[in-house]
Amino acid sequence: MKVNGKPMRSIWVEADGAVGVIDQTVLPHEFRTVRLTSRDEAAQAISSMLVRGAPLIGAVAAYGMVLALRADASDEALETAYRTLLATRPTAINLKWALDEMMAAVRNRPRGERLAVAEKRAAEICDEDVAINRAIGEHGLRLIEAIAARKKPGERVNVLTHCNAGWLATVDWGTATAPIYLAHDKGIALHVYADETRPRNQGASLTAWELGRHGVPHTVIPDNTGGHLMQHGLVDMVIVGTDRVTARGDVCNKIGTYLKALAAKDNDVPFYVALPSPTIDFTVGDGVAEIPIEQRAADEVAVMSGRTSDGRIEAVRIVPDGSPVANYAFDVTPARLVTGLITERGILPATREGLAAAFPERAGRDPEKWEPVFRRDHAPSEKKRATDDSISTNPAQAERR
Ligand code: MRU
Repeated sequence: MKVNGKPMRSIWVEADGAVGVIDQTVLPHEFRTVRLTSRDEAAQAISSMLVRGAPLIGAVAAYGMVLALRADASDEALETAYRTLLATRPTAINLKWALDEMMAAVRNRPRGERLAVAEKRAAEICDEDVAINRAIGEHGLRLIEAIAARKKPGERVNVLTHCNAGWLATVDWGTATAPIYLAHDKGIALHVYADETRPRNQGASLTAWELGRHGVPHTVIPDNTGGHLMQHGLVDMVIVGTDRVTARGDVCNKIGTYLKALAAKDNDVPFYVALPSPTIDFTVGDGVAEIPIEQRAADEVAVMSGRTSDGRIEAVRIVPDGSPVANYAFDVTPARLVTGLITERGILPATREGLAAAFPERAGRDPEKWEPVFRRDHAPSEKKRATDDSISTNPAQAERR
């Protein structure tokens, strides 16, 4: 997409091999780019959310491997880089996917070839992401066009989105935003409700910034507004992104997505999820039980920062000292609430069969392999199960899912 009239991706390689990214922690107040020059800088950029969004996290991790190999191409350095980068954030499966791709590319190569091979695969991962998102855009555009065709003259298509699944969250185009940008560029009258997305406000800060730069009409709304708008017929469709989709179509995305899906279901508003195939985790079935949900620092909730009227960025505390805070970064929307999955291979039902038929090479051809595998590293510990009410151990609840 363009920044100040210049075409730009969210990640690039500079002449000296450093990896350039946009500092997403200072947007929308400042546009600042940062150079990543080592494995640890790449890891820190991901964990601090200087870069964020599932596909971009994967791309930065891929380049983190490149930076690691540039310093040391030994087996040991490779394994350490893999483990260090994988530990940065737990929920977006694109991170593991990209690291596995990098490992598969370089592991069996002689040391002397590893860096060049890694550079090539990381660049491909980025280019593939751009192509995938463009294809998602084309498929999603058809949905927007169908709604636009039913509108009266002068009416616009209202899309609600949550968090930022825009070009900043990917290498380019975005996932949820790709259909929006294409529809807008085609001249379809369209308006986006951007959920503010507490606590880190990716909707208010990033989605609004992106849409504004591209000239897409939009309105930022507090997170609790979507249900009200849907009850009053003010939302034609919801499109969100995702950090992990399970083999049976459960969707993990930014905290609050589930409530939007419930409101959409209650009001017959179509609820679409846009995703590139690396976001599908065919090893997981029940998203609520099996996907590790990141819990972040309390201060992300207790402290808000923003620009003062005289232009300074200031942080203010909004929670009483001593009040405990919970900060779950993601939730899971069960497949039954999802109208369709917008992928690079078309719009799929959120079902095991739909996903496996579209991506047989990932699902495995043996239907046995489509069954959920309850992986040890995904299972909440017994202690956590007993104390953490985010994870249901109630069989009746599990049954409903
Ligand atoms: O915590 P974040 O900002 O990394 O979360 C981002 C999201 O939840 C996005 O919706 C998701 O990664 C999809 S990005 C195309």
